Amino acid sequence: MHAFEEKLKKTQITVISLLESAKSPQELAEVESQILGKQGLVAQLINEFKTLSGTDKKQFGSPFNQFREEIRARIAEKKQQGSPSCGCDNASCSIPLDVTAYRAAPIGSLHPETHAIYELEDVLTSMGFALVEGPELETEFYNFDALNIPPTHPARDMQDTFWLPQPHHLLRTHTSSVQIRAMQKQRPPLSIAAIGRVYRCEATDASHDYTFLQCEGLVIDKKNSLANLFATTKLLLQKLFKNDNLQIRVRPSYFPFVEPGVEIDLTCPFCTSGCPTCKKSRWIEICGAGLVHPNVLKAGGINPQEWSGFAFGFGLTRLIMLKYGIDDIRHLHNAKIEFLQQF
Ligand code: PHE
Repeated sequence: MHAFEEKLKKTQITVISLLESAKSPQELAEVESQILGKQGLVAQLINEFKTLSGTDKKQFGSPFNQFREEIRARIAEKKQQGSPSCGCDNASCSIPLDVTAYRAAPIGSLHPETHAIYELEDVLTSMGFALVEGPELETEFYNFDALNIPPTHPARDMQDTFWLPQPHHLLRTHTSSVQIRAMQKQRPPLSIAAIGRVYRCEATDASHDYTFLQCEGLVIDKKNSLANLFATTKLLLQKLFKNDNLQIRVRPSYFPFVEPGVEIDLTCPFCTSGCPTCKKSRWIEICGAGLVHPNVLKAGGINPQEWSGFAFGFGLTRLIMLKYGIDDIRHLHNAKIEFLQQF
């Protein structure tokens, strides 16, 4: 064995036993200077290394560096093990680490719904939508009447309602109620979006809950067409799922507050050839939409001869479930820490 290599090995053994012998921070500081100090073991090796021939330097340079790194790591580890728990900065403090001492509480994280709301808000504002809010405790007028759903209209049964003891008051069944409030507040042209909680009086199961999040979009301008609606919703969904290749498909549908009404499906963002999320169909149903019904514009104080609009609404909670593969909607607010810690 080469003399330098031999010296390296010997020093290694000495260093380990020196570190083991250090029982207090003070002793560790002494040992550290014995090893890394100006005249320490490593310094001696460096001097020796300098006298080596070029080829030997090449041969032993990298193991020597590795050795030095290892020593530093061992010393750091030892310091941490013996670091005082009393919180003082004194390097020679000899109070041992108390493993039962108070530790800072673990830091929490955003609820998946909050996270999704923030993401959606970013996308909507980047597209020029103004974010607005409406009350969850609503009147029959904003939730139904003004949306072209008179009291006897069978469409009221489409959304089972939590009626409140006060006459004509309810928990909003959809965020479409925000449409009329927005029209009453702002003159057109306008482009608003509302994200919020809605309530439906229905039996709960894995995919139905009495409350969930919806997002509503409303755009009113001089010449709005279905083409504007389709382009806007497509871009919104592409941005939301961060995938420019997603496509939409449109099916005719009925909502009293739009004419014509449609339902929009999106190519599955989670697969290319069919998966459990899209039930192997490659399409997932996303939102209801259409051109704002003239009666709705009138209820909002806007002249339908002059202005036209489009609106869309989708369930954000459903999108969150699809995105994270959550199989039961009730997990989202049963406050189980094991569930929430996954996000
Ligand atoms: N409000 C409808 C729902 O809750 C969705 C919708 C919004 C449909 C806007 C058309 C236009 O199902």
